[in-house]
Amino acid sequence: MSEKSNITKENPFKIVFVCLGNICRSPTAEGIFQHLVNERGLQPYFYIDSAGTSAYHIGEPANSKSRQVAEQQGVKLQSRARRFEAGDLEEFDLILAMDSENHENLQRLDRNSSFNGKIRMMREYDPQPGDGEVPDPYYGGMDGFQHVFEVLKRSCEALLDELEVRVEK
Ligand code: 4NP
Repeated sequence: MSEKSNITKENPFKIVFVCLGNICRSPTAEGIFQHLVNERGLQPYFYIDSAGTSAYHIGEPANSKSRQVAEQQGVKLQSRARRFEAGDLEEFDLILAMDSENHENLQRLDRNSSFNGKIRMMREYDPQPGDGEVPDPYYGGMDGFQHVFEVLKRSCEALLDELEVRVEK
């Protein structure tokens, strides 16, 4: 699908959220985005995934603090960590990096810069973008996980608002 074409059941929009470990930020983004898609009855129009640029946590469920914060807001995190692969550059319509390190890692995988246009920063969509990064909460306390959830909720809502107008029912 080209970046601006209509989104249909036959041609659903494929989106992947990317962080370092795929156990904190990107599974939270995936869970929130899926939750919003479900609330709006848009399930047939989106394929939603997440991945990590590292191999540190492959196969693991989302971090327990991430799951706890999400569940308090009615969002279930059900992903298992996987590593982002070069083939995903072709496969997905939009690839959202949580921070600039993830963004650089993705650009490095995109050797010929063929997919540069669809590799974006998550906080481009945040109405309150701050410094543009979704901060890594891994080594901190619950407040960091709470902050990440709020940032991702705002960003996912704005992102889905933008994509929903392209859905052709
Ligand atoms: P995430 O958080 O990238 O949001 O999943 C991290 C998880 C693990 C590590 C770093 C960040 N780690 O260094 O193991």
